[in-house]
Amino acid sequence: MPLNADAMLEHLRTRRSVREFASTPVERRVLGRLVTAAITAPSATNRQPWRFVVITDPASRERIASAVRVATEAIDRIVRTGPHAAEWGSYGDFFWQPLASAAAIIVPAVREPPDMLAGFLRSAGADPERFQLPSAMSPERCALGGAVMALQLQAHAEGLGTAWMAGPMVACAEVEAACGISRPWQMVGAIAVGYPIAVPVAPPRKSLEDVIFWIEEGQS
Ligand SMILES: Cc1cc2nc3c(=O)[nH]c(=O)nc-3n(C[C@H](O)[C@H](O)[C@H](O)COP(=O)(O)O)c2cc1C
Repeated sequence: MPLNADAMLEHLRTRRSVREFASTPVERRVLGRLVTAAITAPSATNRQPWRFVVITDPASRERIASAVRVATEAIDRIVRTGPHAAEWGSYGDFFWQPLASAAAIIVPAVREPPDMLAGFLRSAGADPERFQLPSAMSPERCALGGAVMALQLQAHAEGLGTAWMAGPMVACAEVEAACGISRPWQMVGAIAVGYPIAVPVAPPRKSLEDVIFWIEEGQS
């Protein structure tokens, strides 16, 4: 049954990226439901190019969080000696801190298949560079973005908080090793999951007028 449209918008608007979590564990059944939500997402040719490694084991979570912290600190020490030290500030904390208190870490992974259409063109003697191809939009990663958003919205409905983080990519090799992710799979950030102890104030959004561009009848 479709959700009431206003309730849906309200659900979308009230989701926040949460970075501080209670130590309360998240039930396996609930975590499974988050991934169930993720895999409802659309994907190019329905390839479903995703996997989700769900880590609740405290030792593995600690291994991941500390690998990201160590890699961030190495970057931090260098940036602090440069002209952008003030701008950088404590930004590095956002790379690892949410992982430190998360009751679960979900690492989404993507598999990028070879560009099938480019291959077809090449094998027919044409240079794929001559054409504008769908691969220009990274369809697999776009699909994964939709899947993670679905996961985050389901988490919000479960009373959980999440933060999808690009920061953990600074320790990509270590996190992938801890998760058993190997090529052709690649991690795409990490999602901190848990019951929130602090929900941030909603960061401002650009106005609708700033981002919407209409081409209506009579304007072409
Ligand atoms: C692809 C992506 C990467 C992000 N990386 C981080 C991150 O490394 N650390 C973090 O604390 N938040 C991260 N965020 C969360 C954003 O900071 C957050 O979505 C944004 O400030 C808007 O806040 P909201 O999600 O509460 O609406 C990321 C979000 C996205 C979509």
